Amino acid sequence: MAFVLTVFVVVILVLFSWSADSLSRDEFPSDFVFGASTSAYQVEGAANEDGRKPSIWDTYSHAGNANMYKGDGDVACDGYHKYKEDVQLMANMGLDAYRFSISWSRLIPDGKGAINPKGLEYYNNLINELTSHGIQPHVTLHHWDLPQTLEDEYEGWISRNVVYDFTAYADVCFREFGDRVKYWTTLNEVNVFAMVGYGIGAAPPQRCSPFSLGNCSRGNSSTEPYLAAHHMLLAHASVARLYNKKYKGIQHGFIGLNLLTISFVPVTNTSGDIIATQGAQDFWMGWILNPLTFGDYPDIMKKNIGSRLPSFTKEESNLIRNSIDFLGINFYSTFSVNNHSKSLNMKDIDLIPDMDAEITMLPENDTSINTVLDSLKNDYGKFPIYIHENGHQTPHSSSLNDFSRIKSLHKYIGSIAKAIRSGSNIKGYFVWSFLDVFEIIGGYEESLGLYYTDFKDPNLKRQPKLSAKWYSNFLKNKPIDP
Ligand code: NOJ
Repeated sequence: MAFVLTVFVVVILVLFSWSADSLSRDEFPSDFVFGASTSAYQVEGAANEDGRKPSIWDTYSHAGNANMYKGDGDVACDGYHKYKEDVQLMANMGLDAYRFSISWSRLIPDGKGAINPKGLEYYNNLINELTSHGIQPHVTLHHWDLPQTLEDEYEGWISRNVVYDFTAYADVCFREFGDRVKYWTTLNEVNVFAMVGYGIGAAPPQRCSPFSLGNCSRGNSSTEPYLAAHHMLLAHASVARLYNKKYKGIQHGFIGLNLLTISFVPVTNTSGDIIATQGAQDFWMGWILNPLTFGDYPDIMKKNIGSRLPSFTKEESNLIRNSIDFLGINFYSTFSVNNHSKSLNMKDIDLIPDMDAEITMLPENDTSINTVLDSLKNDYGKFPIYIHENGHQTPHSSSLNDFSRIKSLHKYIGSIAKAIRSGSNIKGYFVWSFLDVFEIIGGYEESLGLYYTDFKDPNLKRQPKLSAKWYSNFLKNKPIDP
């Protein structure tokens, strides 16, 4: 009888562990890193304190009605003062790693020249706090917050001058923090920053297009997204060369670049839609990944954009090719594609007609990240990937019992385990965001945080949402339920 019972229990356990909903940390390699993300402007606050000067994001936020969302990062989550409390919460949660960005204009307020000792102190303190709690710092150098002085002086990323200044800034970061920071991402979401900041005008530095809001008159949306991204790629390559020559042998760290990936799916199985889908993907990811992998832009960009697309010299191409140790990707959405570009809703955004397809955002589909991971593996090889951002957006006012976020994270993490099983070289996963922050889309009205930030409370109290408890249980290998 005891034997029959034992067999029964074993069968039930095996079936349970194979059920579609089961998810355990044990499914991931032992060196796989789980973390959460934020960025400087969205979390730090203290915008006018201790010598920090404005970045282009401050300017965008303060542009009044010209800004798409109300609010600014002047106070945000006050992470600048609350970093100890926050790191304690991260440690309690069981995070292996924290992805954050350095505010260039806090560290070097004019973008070049003098270093701000208070900025240096803050990032040293934050990094020390993390490492003393056993949390790996994963640092981004530019999360859309170029110092305003450089925008004023030479129009920021539109000018090649930025390559030199960005490299000098990175040099300071490597020299000061590189003994403890091993994972460096040069730039966040190069493709989105170029498209939204320079093609649509709905993010800093709010260069213009017919879609810019408010009284905006700078820029040329048919060339600037490509020019800005070109300079970002050159700046990234220059920083990677610096690190490899001067620091790699001593600090043994890794350099990466981050982009937003999108899962593109054809509306129908017709060859036209399938070709348009492949084209949209080659354009959106290939814009950044072809130079990094093959040293040049994809054919579809050359064909569709012609002389508006900058080109690389042989030397630049050699420098950019293979300039990443890892790729950082953000993933949030799936877009359907068909080839009837004439019916475009957004037909005045130059970059969309350049893709030569009609693109529509679909409702969240948590498993479609596999489409992206498969095409990264098949089209660009097996370089290590960190999923730097993934999450689920809800109105900020919604309850602490964020079941929809738990459901979503459960599916995403399960999809990643599946991708690893089918050969994707994924090294880490970060939830965006560690806590509710000042969001680029939605300001303080929309959130993706694991912790609720009470923006009405003078102390900006943090409270764990159910998703924080769920993620913590998952990380600690305790039973979880979606
Ligand atoms: C993209 C950006 O990197 C981050 O700043 C933003 O808040 C999130 N994704 C959510 O939209």
